[in-house]
Amino acid sequence: MKRLHIGMVGYGFMGRTHSNAFAQVNHFFDVPYRPVLKTVCARNAGRAQEFAGKWGYESVETDWRKLVDSHDIDLIDIASPNDTHAEIAIAAAQAGKMVMCEKPLGRNGAEGEAMTRAVEAAGVSNMVWYNYRRVPAVMMARQLIDEGRLGKIFHYRAKFLQDWTISSDLPQGGEGLWRLDVSVAGSGVTGDLLAHCIDTAMWLNGGIGEVSAMTETFIRQRKHNLTGKVEPVGIDDASAFLARFHNGSLATFEATRYARGHKALYTLEINGEHASIFWDLHDLHRLQYFDHRDEGRLRGWRSIHITDGDHPYMKHWWVPGLQIGYEHTFIHQAADFLSAAAEQRSAAPTFRDALQTDYVTDAVLESAANRKWVQVRGGADAVANG
Ligand SMILES: NC(=O)c1ccc[n+]([C@@H]2O[C@H](COP(=O)([O-])OP(=O)(O)OC[C@H]3O[C@@H](n4cnc5c(N)ncnc54)[C@H](O)[C@@H]3O)[C@@H](O)[C@H]2O)c1
Repeated sequence: MKRLHIGMVGYGFMGRTHSNAFAQVNHFFDVPYRPVLKTVCARNAGRAQEFAGKWGYESVETDWRKLVDSHDIDLIDIASPNDTHAEIAIAAAQAGKMVMCEKPLGRNGAEGEAMTRAVEAAGVSNMVWYNYRRVPAVMMARQLIDEGRLGKIFHYRAKFLQDWTISSDLPQGGEGLWRLDVSVAGSGVTGDLLAHCIDTAMWLNGGIGEVSAMTETFIRQRKHNLTGKVEPVGIDDASAFLARFHNGSLATFEATRYARGHKALYTLEINGEHASIFWDLHDLHRLQYFDHRDEGRLRGWRSIHITDGDHPYMKHWWVPGLQIGYEHTFIHQAADFLSAAAEQRSAAPTFRDALQTDYVTDAVLESAANRKWVQVRGGADAVANG
């Protein structure tokens, strides 16, 4: 089996999920590559070394450029904050490396475009870690839609609710809190949380044509961890928008970090002519399904436990009835990427697919700022929906 040498940028939350995926993938999936955890890069050498020891990386770097220049690295995996994605991805592609990048692709569409141009010009395999597509229940939703079971789709409803920034004492910026610093994150919940909802939505239901949004920054000033000064907050704390898909269906999307009691409540619901689907991240191994064609007396919502061998990805895991969780979505994504990369292909969502999500989040922020409906760039054919 061919070895694929990984250069990982970042050892935080996503550095761990990706390292785990690369470490586990060959145990459960027959893929043509064996990933080798070659080098982890982060600015703090001591902590990177500690991480390398725990996860089995062979070496440590503090400058990602060394990874990009190294002949020992085949793939650069970007698991660092959003302001680093474009520069690293473009340099990695130009050096001929395969590139995996965390979401959102860029801080905005302009960055995303430059990144997409770079990987396409270099012809390198690429993928963005919108991992929720690979929850077996969400993949099953896609299969049911593709089989035409829902019929014409009328409505799509998604929300992603958290509650961790309600305190006005919480600072912005620096480690762990870069998401509150607009210069690093690009936006608030729109690019962080809604980007996931938008990626899944376009994958399940095609492209989004236009949006009308509102955003709010509830706490307008916070102490900045890097300067020590109280500074304006530039991110959106909450974001909600209406959308029309190109297929004529209507949608509502909402995300906030101010929904007391909710930690990561990502839900989606799709209503079609014949059937409806509902999914909830807190119960991620279940798909709720209602089919109007069922016999009237027995008609009702079914709660399908997505754990059987004929459910997506599940034949690779334990035995029917035993469920899997969050970290497995990354393992699935790594498996799909490695299979594609061995054939010099990219895996979905590619940079180009993720660029379309950047265009939607740009449109949401523009609509909220101008209080107007905004057309999304890219048009009806832009979503590969692979
Ligand atoms: N797919 C998902 O569900 C998901 C979930 C969380 C985060 N993310 C995305 O993953 C990325 C990282 O988020 P996180 O939660 O892991 O962040 P984190 O704060 O936990 O970790 C960030 C890591 O990047 C490192 N880093 C920062 N600047 C760097 C630089 N210039 N060079 C090298 N390393 C650097 C830090 O040392 C740290 O190890 C973000 O783009 C975020 O949006 C995606």
